[in-house]
Amino acid sequence: MDSSFPNISSTLLGELPKETWWASDHYNWEGFWFASSRLSPVMAARSNFQASNDDVFLTSSIKTGTTWLKAIIPTIMNPKGRKNDDTDDPLLKHHPNDLMPSLELQLFKDNPNPDLTAMPSPRLFRSLVPYPLLPESVKNSACKIVYITRDPKDVFVSMWHFMNSWTCTIGQGPWKMNEAFESFCRGVHAFGPFHDHVLSYWKESLRRPEKILFLRYEDLKKDPKVQLKKLASFLGRPFAKEEEVEKVLWRCSLERLKTLEVNQNGVDPWLGIPYKLYFRRGIVGDWENNITEEMKERLDQVTRMKFEGSGLDF
Ligand code: A3P
Repeated sequence: MDSSFPNISSTLLGELPKETWWASDHYNWEGFWFASSRLSPVMAARSNFQASNDDVFLTSSIKTGTTWLKAIIPTIMNPKGRKNDDTDDPLLKHHPNDLMPSLELQLFKDNPNPDLTAMPSPRLFRSLVPYPLLPESVKNSACKIVYITRDPKDVFVSMWHFMNSWTCTIGQGPWKMNEAFESFCRGVHAFGPFHDHVLSYWKESLRRPEKILFLRYEDLKKDPKVQLKKLASFLGRPFAKEEEVEKVLWRCSLERLKTLEVNQNGVDPWLGIPYKLYFRRGIVGDWENNITEEMKERLDQVTRMKFEGSGLDF
């Protein structure tokens, strides 16, 4: 373990349930799975992060379309983001990861107490932790949380392509799809179980709709303008004109972001992941091209069982 994080002893680590996910040890802490390198930052952020009332948080489980919102939210919050002049668009030079820094993957990754006071207000953050593990100040302040989720079958397929492409770039072979699928159905994956993650935010969003906006990737794809207007109003930045909505949508579109130099050739300095891997097909229902009917039935059954009585379905 990183010695700058003395709070996780090897004894604690040894006591946590352990599984292997994409050739890396993952530990179950408080009901959720984390790579050992993520545990300390998650714990440090939970203890030490102080939210401000005007912070905005983007939260999600992995591979749910977060990158789209990492582009959209900063563009909505930037007074110039909806204007016509493209020359000073931060997306031209930055991957969306840089515009909404992650608590556990960036800010607290190597420092249990980073000084975030110099960040311009309103500060924009993201996190992959489930609702119960968010810092208390995030839950108790007036800051806003936007949550995005997606059909678990498409999440699995997106994860499968992303993880294999990434691990192949670092010399590991692909993980067998049936093993990765079993693991996903059992909830064993980074920041999983997926279904428990989704439920944690869903329930809280029903209780406090002014605090948490619960979005689905499928709705964003189907009716992007309606969803963008809802999001902008939730963030206190409603659109004045239809052209503004169109501008933000175009700026943050997969087609545009995919072709930008920074995203074609850049590499995430925190994770070593080529930026281009964050942009793939971006369609609804790609699971049909990737998993068998039997796998579909199995995962749908897990989803039905987990979401029963919650009002959520896919
Ligand atoms: P696919 O793998 O199905 O193509 P995350 O951003 O949470 O890691 O999720 C990744 C998924 O979001 C990928 O889905 C990716 O293609 C899609 N995505 C990334 N940027 C997007 C954008 N600007 N618009 C729509 N989808 C996007």
